[in-house]
Amino acid sequence: PARIAVLISGHGSNLQAIIDANTIGNIDVELVAVIANKANAYGLQRAAKHHIPAHTVEAKPGETRECYDARLQAVLDDCQADFIVLAGFMRILSDAFVERNLGKMVNIHPSLLPLYPGLNTHQKAIDNGDSIHGASVHFVTPKLDSGPIILQAQVPVFAEDDIESLAARVHTQEHTIYPLVVHWLSQGRLHYQGGHAVLDGQVLASQGYA
Ligand code: GAR
Repeated sequence: PARIAVLISGHGSNLQAIIDANTIGNIDVELVAVIANKANAYGLQRAAKHHIPAHTVEAKPGETRECYDARLQAVLDDCQADFIVLAGFMRILSDAFVERNLGKMVNIHPSLLPLYPGLNTHQKAIDNGDSIHGASVHFVTPKLDSGPIILQAQVPVFAEDDIESLAARVHTQEHTIYPLVVHWLSQGRLHYQGGHAVLDGQVLASQGYA
C-alpha cells in the first residue's frame, strides 16, 4: 500500500477520518507518520491510539522557514512517505519544500476555492452573505491555497448560522472527501500533470467553482 504521512496542527478530525476509512477498508494505505508542528496537537493522541508513529517538529525561536522545512523533510524522508496529506497543518511551506514534493502533497481547505484562500473562511462566507460554502482538496503548489482543485464539497449556509455551526457542517463534508482523494492517490489514479489535477486520465476542472 501507498505510504502516507499526515501533517497536522490541532484537532486532527480529518486525520481521524482517514484512519477510520483505512480501518474499515474503504481505503488501503499505510499511515507511516503523523507529524505535528505543535506538541499539544490533539491529533498526536489519535495517532498514538492507532499505533501510528507520531512526530512533533516544532519551530525553534528565530528559525528560518527553510531550516524548519529541511527538518520536516528529513522526517518525511526517514519514513519514506509516498504522499503528504496536509490536514489542518497551519504553517506556510517554503517554495523549495513545495517544489520538491510537487504532485505528492495535497491540502484540504475550508472554502470553495478560489474563494477565500487563507484564514477565517467561515467568517468570510457569513460576512459576504453566501448561500453556499464548502471545502476543497487541492494539490499543493507554491502559491498559497491555489493549486489545482481535485474535489470540492458544498454545504448550505443558513441565516441562523454562526462560525461554529457552519464550520461543523463543512467539517462533516471534509471527512467524506479527504479519504476519497487519499484513496485515488494511493491507487495511482490521481496525478499532478502540467499544472492540472488528472484523475483516471481526465483533467479535472481546475479552479472550477464560480
Ligand atoms: C479543517 O477544517 C481544514 O480544512 C482546515 O483546518 C481544519 C482542521 O481540522 N485547514 C485550514 O484552514 C488550512 N489553511 P482538523 O484538525 O479537525 O482536521
